[in-house]
Amino acid sequence: MPTLFDPIQLGAIHAPNRVIMAPLTRGRSTRDHVPTEMMQTYYAQRAGAGLLISEATGISREGLGWPYAPGLWTDAQTNAWKPVTEAVHNAGGRIVAQLWHMGRVVHSSFLNGEPPVSASATQAPYKAHTYDGRQDYDVARPLEISEIPRLLADYAHAARNAIAAGFDGVQLHAANGYLIDQFLRNGSNLRDDHFGGSIDGRIRLLDEVVQTLIATVGADRVGVRLSPNGDSQGVDDSDPEPLFTAAAAMVDRHGIAFLELREPDENGTFGRTDVPRLSPAIRKVFKGPLILNSDYTLEAAQAALASGVADAISFGRPFISNPDLPERLAKGLPLAPDNQAQWYSQGPEGYIDYPTAA
Ligand SMILES: Cc1cc2nc3c(=O)[nH]c(=O)nc-3n(C[C@H](O)[C@H](O)[C@H](O)COP(=O)(O)O)c2cc1C
Repeated sequence: MPTLFDPIQLGAIHAPNRVIMAPLTRGRSTRDHVPTEMMQTYYAQRAGAGLLISEATGISREGLGWPYAPGLWTDAQTNAWKPVTEAVHNAGGRIVAQLWHMGRVVHSSFLNGEPPVSASATQAPYKAHTYDGRQDYDVARPLEISEIPRLLADYAHAARNAIAAGFDGVQLHAANGYLIDQFLRNGSNLRDDHFGGSIDGRIRLLDEVVQTLIATVGADRVGVRLSPNGDSQGVDDSDPEPLFTAAAAMVDRHGIAFLELREPDENGTFGRTDVPRLSPAIRKVFKGPLILNSDYTLEAAQAALASGVADAISFGRPFISNPDLPERLAKGLPLAPDNQAQWYSQGPEGYIDYPTAA
């Protein structure tokens, strides 16, 4: 029976342990979405993870609407990621880039006043993060079928840049109410063409993006993240189990390196839902490495591995405040709490100043 501290092969990536760092947006890049020097320190400090999944990283101007989040569509962004991946590798770690298109939750202020794109003409609830504070979302413009090849080219371009920047692979962000998720779920995908309607229609964009990424970097360097249970940013589905098991079976057929599920439950502290976790059903159809996430403690993580429902566990908030999280877990040391006020606060405070236990 594997434990968190046993190695695992994730496609082409050899992870020396099963404590994975979940993707965490931290807002420490420039206004042009160029990574900064402190990001080298931040990721290198956390290189003891079996695998680091980077913060969500924009694939295009159209797809990125988060202040000071990084991108991978310009040469300047790509070049500034190089010392980050190098620092991780020099510290003995591995890192994949999480590729992000936010779809309808890109505020129009990032787009010269143009509306964002989505599956359908819907408007996200709550308020957008912008450079001028929180603002209402705009009604999205449905993507035309004729635009899909250009969207796929944007994903391919960003994936090529990720490899050029020294990443060990990519993870497609298909979770949390962003573009791919907006296509997956019938609360936000109201299309009646072959990118909507049936489950086959709604998983088509995911399928085409995954195939594009595989053609660009190889299946053994492509991971996918899904959030199958419950509402994310107003994106939800009336019958999630058949939808997400079909999506998981499809990525399984493509032989991707790993699938990660973000699944809060009724006690969730980052999202809460009464929709049961779908990982047991997904486990039956996805045969590759399955990484589970949300609110895991050491005990719950070991139990998930022991029961066979997961192959590895990703930790988000614990990695913010415990750069040496795998070591602390292995030694049973207490974990330091994180400070939510500093999640996106730009400066080095609450970012690179959390000490190791030693
Ligand atoms: C500050 C912060 C930033 C996050 N950024 C991302 C992100 O960029 N991409 C993503 O897929 N999830 C993101 N998440 C969700 C986390 O990856 C993770 O699913 C969540 O924190 C639950 O895991 P945990 O209980 O181990 O923290 C973020 C969460 C937090 C707290």
